[in-house]
Amino acid sequence: MRNLLPLISSHPGGRSALTCRYRCGDACFQEIPNTSDNEYVGDVIAGALSRRSMMRAAAVVTVAAAAGTTVLAGPAAPQAEAAALAGHGHTPDGPTTPAASGARGLRFAPVAPNKDDKVTVPDGYGQNVVIRWGEPILRGAPAFDPDKQSAKAQAGQFGYNNDFLSLLPLRGEHGRQVLVANHEYTDENLMFRGYDPANPTREQVEIAWAAHGLSVVVVQDESRTGKLSPVSRHPLNRRLTATSEFEVTGPAAGSSLLRTSADRTGRKVLGTLNNCAGGTTPWGTTLHGEENFNQYFANGSSDTDKRYGIAAGATERKWERFDKRFDLAQEPNEAHRFGWVVELDPYDPDATPRKRTALGRFKHEAAQPRLTADGRPVVYMGDDERFDYFYKFVSSKKMKKGNSRAAREHNLTLLDEGTLYVARLTGDSPAAELDGTGKLPSDGEFDGSGVWIPLATGNTSHVPGMTAEEVYVFTRLAGDKVGATKMDRPEDVEPSPRTGRVYVVLTNNTDRGKPGKAGVDEANPRNLNKHGQILELAEYGDDPAGDGFAWRLFLVAGDPNDPATYFSGFPKEKVSPISCPDNVAFDPHGNLWISTDGNQLGSHDGLFGVATQGERRGELKQFLTVPSGAETCGPVVQDRRVLVAVQHPGEIDGASVEKPASSWPDGPGRIVRPSVVAVWRKDGHDIGV
Ligand code: FEO
Ligand code: CA
Ligand code: CA
Ligand code: CA
Repeated sequence: MRNLLPLISSHPGGRSALTCRYRCGDACFQEIPNTSDNEYVGDVIAGALSRRSMMRAAAVVTVAAAAGTTVLAGPAAPQAEAAALAGHGHTPDGPTTPAASGARGLRFAPVAPNKDDKVTVPDGYGQNVVIRWGEPILRGAPAFDPDKQSAKAQAGQFGYNNDFLSLLPLRGEHGRQVLVANHEYTDENLMFRGYDPANPTREQVEIAWAAHGLSVVVVQDESRTGKLSPVSRHPLNRRLTATSEFEVTGPAAGSSLLRTSADRTGRKVLGTLNNCAGGTTPWGTTLHGEENFNQYFANGSSDTDKRYGIAAGATERKWERFDKRFDLAQEPNEAHRFGWVVELDPYDPDATPRKRTALGRFKHEAAQPRLTADGRPVVYMGDDERFDYFYKFVSSKKMKKGNSRAAREHNLTLLDEGTLYVARLTGDSPAAELDGTGKLPSDGEFDGSGVWIPLATGNTSHVPGMTAEEVYVFTRLAGDKVGATKMDRPEDVEPSPRTGRVYVVLTNNTDRGKPGKAGVDEANPRNLNKHGQILELAEYGDDPAGDGFAWRLFLVAGDPNDPATYFSGFPKEKVSPISCPDNVAFDPHGNLWISTDGNQLGSHDGLFGVATQGERRGELKQFLTVPSGAETCGPVVQDRRVLVAVQHPGEIDGASVEKPASSWPDGPGRIVRPSVVAVWRKDGHDIGV
C-alpha cells in the first residue's frame, strides 16, 4: 500500500507525503468535499460601512482571558484603535514611538529562516524540552522504551504528536500549572521499528489508540528560569485516548443518527480522534477540536460521508480490522460520533469529558471562546478544509463567576444551549479589482462586511429542509444550504483580549481558482493560494453575540518581496517572511503570535509575533524555528514564557525509525519524539517586549 502513494515532497500545503497521509488522510489529494453550488454573490454593501463599523467595534470590550482572568482595555483604546485604522500610524521611515495604550511591539532580534534540525530561538533566550512523547505521567506507567512499547504503557504516558496546548493555573501549589495537550495523530512509520503499513499488528494499533487523545499533566517551574518540568503521578494527571469514555451532550445527544450497536443511547462514545487545536474557557475548562476524523473510518458510502471526506474502501491505519466500529459498512453511525468539540474539566480527574453537539459537527480545527458583556460565552470555530466555512456559537446562558461547586456545575452546561451560526462575507471592492494575484484593490484593502447566518437554536432548525438534529450532525450541509462563504481553510482563531477583534487564520488553498473550483473573493483574494492569510473581524457594536461584523485582511502571508503580500501596511523590508499560518495566541501585551504549518518559502516552520495595534501594527518577527519535518503548534505565550508543541518532527518522505530524518530532541541514535518546548528570556524579563 505504501508504494501506491507518490513519494513527492512538495505536497499542497507544503507538507511531506507522510504528513499528509497520516495527519489528514491525504485530504489535499481527495476530491474537494464541498461541491455545493453556493457561490453567494451578495449585495455589494457600501464600502464606508465596514470602515465605520470597524471603528465602532474598536470601543472598549471586556473579554475574559484564559482561566477567568478579566482584562479590560483602557479608556484610551478607542482612540488608539481609531488612529491605527486611519493609516496604522506608520511614518514613511517606519515605526515611531508606539501609542501608550497599544501593544508595545516585539523587541527581540528575529530568527532568520533556516533548515536546522533544532529549535532555534532569538539571542538572549533559553529553552528546554518540557515533555516528550512516551514520558510516563500516570502512576505505574513505565519509562519510555520504543522497543518495548505496549498499549498499556502508552495509556499512562504522554501521547504522540502534541498539538494544542493550554496552561491553566493551579491554586495552592507554588510554581505549578496544569498543562493540557492534544495528541492529534500517530505516524506508525516513525513509532514502530519495521512497521509494515499493509499489516499492522493488533498491538501496534492498540498503541496508536492509546497515543491519540489528550493529556493533562501538572508542570513545575524551575525558579529563576522559564524551565518547566512535568510532575509525574500528580493526582490531576490524566490520559484520554481513542478508547476512553466520552459523553455526548446538547441538542443532538441521543439522536438516532448517533446510535450504534454498542451504544443504543447515542450518548456514550469511546474516544476522541485527531484533536487539533482548541481553546481555554473563562470558566477553566479546555476545548478540543476533532479535526480529520474522516480518515479513521472505512467504507464510507453515503452522500453525507462524502461531504465529510470519508472515503470508500480501507483506511491507511486499518483499524477497522481490529474494531468493527471503524467499518461504516457495519456501523454506519459511528463516524457521526466524531467531528465534535470536546470539553474537558482538567481540574476534575474523574469527570467524563463531553462532546458538545450544539457546536456542530465538522473538521473542527479550534474552538475559541470569549464572553458577551452580560457573560454569555461565544465560541468561534473554523472548519479546516479547502472551501469550507467559519462558524460561531452563542450560548443562551450566562457564566457564573467564582469557583464554587454550583458555579462550576452550571458553567459545564454553557455550551449545550444556544445558537449556531455560519459566516457569509462580502467584500466592498468591485469584483473586477480582484485579479487573483493578491494585488490590493483601489481602496487599499481587502475588506468588507459579514453576516452571521443562524443554523439552529436548541431543537429549532433555521435551515429549510433540515431538522435541528441534522443541522448539528451534518453541519457542513447546513452551511451549503444557506450560502456560507467558502474560505481558504479556516484554522485557528483568537479574539484579542485588548480589543475584542477576532483573528481568523486561513492557512492556504492551492485549489482556489482552479478550473471548476471557486474563484477568488475579497476575503480569499489569491488564486492557487500557497501561503495563506489572516483575517481581522470586528463584531458590530462590539457585541460578540451580534449578527454582523466588519472584516479586513490583517496579513496576506508570503515572502515580503512578493508584491502579493500585505502586512497591514507596515514597511515590508522590516518584516520576517511567513507562510501557512495555522495556530494563534495572544500574549498579555496584546501581540498576536502565529505558528506555521507547511512553510512554502524554503525554511522550517516557526513561531512569529506581531503587534496588532499602534505604530508597530503589522511588524511581524520570527521568534523561533522548529526541527526538520516538524510543524509548530499550540503556542501559549505568558509574561515570561513561550510554550510550543513541536509536532511531527522527522516526518519527511522515506523516513522511518530505522532511517530517521531528524535526531531531535535527543541526538543521533535516539528515536525522534514529538515534544513540548518552553522558551524564556534569560534576563528574566517579559517575553518579546
Ligand atoms: Fe490539524 Fe488544521 O491542522
Ligand atoms: Ca476593499
Ligand atoms: Ca492546526
Ligand atoms: Ca495545520
